[in-house]
Amino acid sequence: MVDVVSSSELFRLYGRVSPGGVQSNIRFWVPNPIYFSRALGSRVWSIDGVEYVDLITGYGSVILGHGDPLVKKTVEEALEAGLTTGLESELAYKVVDLIHGMVPSAEMVRLSVTGTEAVMHALMIARAATGRLRIVKAEGCYHGWYDQVYVSLHPPLDKAGPRDEPNVVPISRGIHDALVSSVIVVPFNDADALRRVLTKHKNEIAAFIIEPICFNSGVILPRGDYLREVREITESNNVLLIFDEVITGFRIAPGGAQEYYGVKPDLSIFGKAMANGFPISAVAGREDLMRLTEPGGLVSYAGTYNGNYISVAAAYATLTQLRSGDVQGYLNSLTNELTRGLSRLFRDYDVEARVYGIGGQFQVYFTNADVVDYRTATTTDAALYSRFREALMNNHYLMHQDPLFHHGLTKAHTGEEVRRIIEITEEFLRKIKTSGK
Ligand SMILES: Cc1ncc(COP(=O)(O)O)c(C=O)c1O
Repeated sequence: MVDVVSSSELFRLYGRVSPGGVQSNIRFWVPNPIYFSRALGSRVWSIDGVEYVDLITGYGSVILGHGDPLVKKTVEEALEAGLTTGLESELAYKVVDLIHGMVPSAEMVRLSVTGTEAVMHALMIARAATGRLRIVKAEGCYHGWYDQVYVSLHPPLDKAGPRDEPNVVPISRGIHDALVSSVIVVPFNDADALRRVLTKHKNEIAAFIIEPICFNSGVILPRGDYLREVREITESNNVLLIFDEVITGFRIAPGGAQEYYGVKPDLSIFGKAMANGFPISAVAGREDLMRLTEPGGLVSYAGTYNGNYISVAAAYATLTQLRSGDVQGYLNSLTNELTRGLSRLFRDYDVEARVYGIGGQFQVYFTNADVVDYRTATTTDAALYSRFREALMNNHYLMHQDPLFHHGLTKAHTGEEVRRIIEITEEFLRKIKTSGK
């Protein structure tokens, strides 16, 4: 399939005609990105001929494993039928109806293509419904690259301001100042900070948007009653609550984090695991809000590829497999085995580390602080993480360079593959203990 034989060579060619030689900057690795030639089950093969156990898994989009047979077959059948006709299909209805049945707050659902677009739609609905323009987001959470939310993901600490009242730090140049100043940033897991902001600005704020589990800074779980308090504070201040379930959706439970934690947002956003790697997303929520997007309603809703036949076929084949909760149960048991095994090793070898995981996603932070928000996540020892990653990469486990990234297992990963991660970690710890470094 490929004419060049190494990732470094392809990078040299690709980087001449496309900035960075990647189509999403997160795929840019030093010294060069790894380019893949094939992916199947839990494995990916690089064009360098190396076979890896994939722990990146499409940034959380692949939940059943690469090339899941049912998804593949359903998509192949759909290809036979047609693609983007400009008309709606029964399959799109079936997908929407599945989401409506699975997700507690999904009174109505609309489809789009990427998580970013679904976020744009949700924010437009929220602003139209409330007549307010400002939004609040949590530091360390990511909601795609739409200007109004493209702030304060991993801000440099010298620009981030005080922990309790973080500065709004744009991720990119080119974001309109008016949009940057329309956002207020709060720390994750801090209900009091949210209460303060909403009490002070409630008549200006349309919505609070949050990842119910902050996977975009690794794995940061909501503490205690945080999400319940968030629901109570938003409701009492008449501010909409938007759960960005692009990663948690269908993964943490069939009904996402909202089912798992028993908290109902006003609007939610889904993507990623919804179609096992095919591009599709959804906005779901309260009927009165969703009906604003009806043809002729207050809020427009558009997209050439919304509900395209291939993506809805993939979503249908994926969601029918995620409906019973068996896949999520399997992923949780794998994740527990991994996080328990790693935590025990770090304790035994006296290495300060925190290991978190849920629903197949996990991350290790080399720190002695409980990771509860972006600021505590940054206490991870990046150099030690890099050596840990190197040990796994050398043993053909594909891991991300960024210590604040989340890693993922799929239904195709085996207990044996997970136990091997624990063995490799033990070899790594033994080595650093004997070398004294
Ligand atoms: C929680 C969350 N929301 C939104 C997005 C944006 O989705 P997309 O990359 O499909 O635009 C992402 C992507 O990583 C995400 O993790």
